[in-house]
Amino acid sequence: MNNIITGKNLVKIFGKGNEQAKVLNEVNVEIAKGEFVAVMGPSGSGKSTLLFVLSGMDEITSGFVKFGDTELAKLRENTLADIRRTQMGFIFQQPTMLKNLNLLDNILLPATNEGKKR
Ligand SMILES: Nc1ncnc2c1ncn2[C@@H]1O[C@H](COP(=O)(O)OP(=O)(O)OP(=O)(O)O)[C@@H](O)[C@H]1O
Ligand SMILES: [Mg+2]
Repeated sequence: MNNIITGKNLVKIFGKGNEQAKVLNEVNVEIAKGEFVAVMGPSGSGKSTLLFVLSGMDEITSGFVKFGDTELAKLRENTLADIRRTQMGFIFQQPTMLKNLNLLDNILLPATNEGKKR
């Protein structure tokens, strides 16, 4: 299996009862190692929601996400955080920076936390 990311039958529902919104409806994704994939769609179609569940930052309502051979939902929060910190990169749509660090130090922060020097 050569996929770095696999999403199967992904369903994401926000809210409850009458307020419920099904944002992902049985989405299937396979991304191979080294592959470059662009997700396109109108505003509000669920692109960010899909990225949040594929990166393990948000939980899916049903279906499963695998990073390599590892199913994200089966990991403890600490293990998931380790994978996100050491093996994933994620650029947020609305980035937030720490005010007490300059731009470069904000960018280098994850590497600094890993004990890497400039
Ligand atoms: N935490 C949340 N609670 C409730 N609804 C949400 C939540 N996050 C997203 N939504 C809804 O899910 C739908 C998809 O939102 P999402 O941000 O994934 O869209 P998008 O494709 O990334 O849009 P854009 O192109 O504007 O970034 C929208 O209707 C949004 O209001
Ligand atoms: Mg978005």
